[in-house]
Amino acid sequence: MDKQAILDALAEEIVKEKVCSDLADQATQLVMGDGNPDADIIFIGEAPGKNEDLQGKPFVGAAGKFLDEMLKSANLQRSDVYITNIVKYRPPNNRDPLPEEKRQFWPYLLRQLEIIQPKAVLTLGRHSGGGFIPGLQIGKEHGHPRKVRLHELEFVVIPLYHPAAALYNGGMRQTLIDDFIQAVEFVKNNSGA
Ligand code: URA
Repeated sequence: MDKQAILDALAEEIVKEKVCSDLADQATQLVMGDGNPDADIIFIGEAPGKNEDLQGKPFVGAAGKFLDEMLKSANLQRSDVYITNIVKYRPPNNRDPLPEEKRQFWPYLLRQLEIIQPKAVLTLGRHSGGGFIPGLQIGKEHGHPRKVRLHELEFVVIPLYHPAAALYNGGMRQTLIDDFIQAVEFVKNNSGA
């Protein structure tokens, strides 16, 4: 079975096992992920918003447009990377995901990582970054790679600001772009690719 087929089976399991049923009941659909499951880089955001919920794909709204722009500025396309979220159903009114919701989805995120075997995990925002780097201070540590071992998995985590940060605060836009390009360069130079 190829990786996409295994990810599809995992998505079915999440639905069947009624993971986070409170969110599932209010959402249009599960938003599992998008892109290339053979990629070296996986981006992990927080949770789907309205557009993602409707289209069934992560990062297709305003924050996603900026993510696409940053990918382009690093000479990448969506088909070169894999993109997902910690929480895979839209929280009502786009509120922050709750600790319990992140906890319920965490084992499934780890299984996604086991399937994809990425060299680098680029987290988008503090919810995702904090999952891999407990106590993460994003203001100090954004863009700084560190090695993480989780069970049998070993990869580099580079915590990035959430792309929506640049939409709320235009002054952060260039920082996000610079971090992004540097992070992609770091992965290219350290992955043997
Ligand atoms: N914000 C996220 O964290 N994830 C999405 O998929 C969209 C917006």
